[in-house]
Amino acid sequence: MAAPVILDCDPGIDDAVAILLALASPELDLLAVTTVAGNVPLASTTANALRVLDLAGRPDLPVGRGAERSLVHLPADDSKETHGESGLDGSGLPEPSRGPGPEHAVDLIARLALDRPGEVTLCAVGPLTNVALLAALRPEAFQALRRIVVMGGAATGGNMSPYAEFNVWFDPEAAARVVASAHDPVLVGLDVTRQARLSAADIDRLAELPVLGGPLAGMLRFYMRKHVDWYGEEVVFQHDALAVAHLVDPSVLELAHCHVEVDTSFGPARGATLVDRLGVFGGHANAHWAVDLDAERFRGLLFERLAALAASR
Ligand code: BDR
Ligand code: CA
Repeated sequence: MAAPVILDCDPGIDDAVAILLALASPELDLLAVTTVAGNVPLASTTANALRVLDLAGRPDLPVGRGAERSLVHLPADDSKETHGESGLDGSGLPEPSRGPGPEHAVDLIARLALDRPGEVTLCAVGPLTNVALLAALRPEAFQALRRIVVMGGAATGGNMSPYAEFNVWFDPEAAARVVASAHDPVLVGLDVTRQARLSAADIDRLAELPVLGGPLAGMLRFYMRKHVDWYGEEVVFQHDALAVAHLVDPSVLELAHCHVEVDTSFGPARGATLVDRLGVFGGHANAHWAVDLDAERFRGLLFERLAALAASR
């Protein structure tokens, strides 16, 4: 039976790929997409989620608009440089055919979680503001989730500071609340997502897909510019799709159950994830931290599923 999933995201080019992978995977029953401010402002992340669902032929899927800003402190930056002014630059996608649903993202997640207690996975691939608000406002619904899988964090080097990864850096107080919760979330951080790569040749191959190929290749080529600047290689990292791939096929990732803390200070390590694999902090294990991946399995899965989705359009 397909596993019920809600995808909370801030599209964002790699978020768009994550949405497509979730829709393309029969192992998952995507119940809703919820949006949060992050890569670009909320109005754009919401419009982008709707544009991607139109592209995938799912204008019926519920979309809930969520938090417009981080909980405590407004971050000094977003990710427009990486994802473009619209958040999906290069995609050429038209304006969405509809607006989001009437329910706030937090209410939508709460309703779906309580409809099926203990069954629904929440996969969060943007800042964790909506998830923390759910824990604060609707604790019974938060507890009713089966599990939480997050793209976020970094143990071996960040992308917003030497230590902090974007999703955690954008709203560290929210991330701290989620990490400290009894859910023991799965955290898929940059240590593994930087190895979930597509090359320029891979993007050329994706460009051949019917319907999806043009928009996908266009936005991935745009996304590659920043990767070339920063890493000197013609690759794109598929951060968010790797978290979804773990739901489809858990063997894509190797996890370690260990203690993780989020730095919420206003010092240079704000937004860092401190991953204590040796147990030296003395804290209890509170997260399943992704330590390794099967990169080929991930790439194979992504290609196979995107091709199947494209063929069905
Ligand atoms: C994360 O930050 C965003 O820019 C991406 O969409 C991804 O979720 C990677 O640090
Ligand atoms: Ca994202």
